[in-house]
Amino acid sequence: MLEKINNLLQEVEGLALNTKEQVEEYRIKWLSKKGEITVLFDEFKTVTPELKKELGQKLNDLKNKAQEKINHLKEKYEAATDSNISSDLDLTLPGDPNISIGSRHPLSIVKNQIIDIFSRIGFTVSEGREIEDDWHNFTALNTPENHPARDMQDTFYVNLNPEMVLRTQTSSVQVHIMENNKPPIRTISPGRVYRNEAISARAHCQFHQVEGLYIDSKVSFADLKQTLLYFSQEMFGKETQIRLRPSYFPFTEPSAEVDISCTICKGKGCNVCKYTGWVEILGCGMVDPQVLDNCSIDSNKFKGFAFGMGIERIAMLKYQVKDLRLFFENDVRFLKQFTSA
Ligand code: DAH
Repeated sequence: MLEKINNLLQEVEGLALNTKEQVEEYRIKWLSKKGEITVLFDEFKTVTPELKKELGQKLNDLKNKAQEKINHLKEKYEAATDSNISSDLDLTLPGDPNISIGSRHPLSIVKNQIIDIFSRIGFTVSEGREIEDDWHNFTALNTPENHPARDMQDTFYVNLNPEMVLRTQTSSVQVHIMENNKPPIRTISPGRVYRNEAISARAHCQFHQVEGLYIDSKVSFADLKQTLLYFSQEMFGKETQIRLRPSYFPFTEPSAEVDISCTICKGKGCNVCKYTGWVEILGCGMVDPQVLDNCSIDSNKFKGFAFGMGIERIAMLKYQVKDLRLFFENDVRFLKQFTSA
């Protein structure tokens, strides 16, 4: 019996158990009801009294060691499965250099560039809400109910009381800013807008705009023009030229649409600029005095300019993307072509 005990003791001390299953296998082999150690305890009952002390101690020692080993390893492997760490994972290995870290969405890249360009000349960034009331999206902007200009923007209505809209333009943020701040105000408001339009290569029911607003005691149309020239050259290159065409927006007077010289053909004529040498990038104008008054800013003391551009449009021109839908499909093959600092 002593020999058996010693052999088992050696086995317990020397054996490497590498998996949870092995631990269980040896628990049964040693300690279960018919296990080798349990059986030894049965045999122990028949041992002569002279040997009892020595064998008893050895047997207890064997049992404790086996139990300890099983418990310890069981805990270790259970913890490892819990956190999915296998015992042969080498945590000291260097990281995989080929891992893909992803890239920023092209619309975020362009949005950040726009913010960067305007913040260099003192514009802050302000954000509004996407579910807007009629006042901020339309009425305060000189577009009361039944005004024909509402037709320019196919609106999604939100069934609430009072009825709300998904904002059709970030010009709504202008109103919040003017209501809550005193001039001078110099801010841009990037954000998502919604229009009930059929989705095509050139239109979508959701897109992004950046609104710009500058209010102070002496703001002129020349300031507006110079600001937009600065923006266009920073965004599209120093050789870029701009031209302003008279236009109409309910909230600006006078209003203009701004074209830049075609970045593709440099003004010579191509299919992007439809052989005109110019491409439209934004709408702008001097804030209509009525809009200032609507927002509790004294139009006798203050003047301002505003502009609004589509981020998708700028991104399409900058990266020569021909289909607007690509920005929303999130196909990684498309997205990973864009990199930013
Ligand atoms: N809100 C206009 C639109 O969505 C864009 C715009 C035009 C904004 C002229 C302006 C502006 O601030 O002055 O079509």
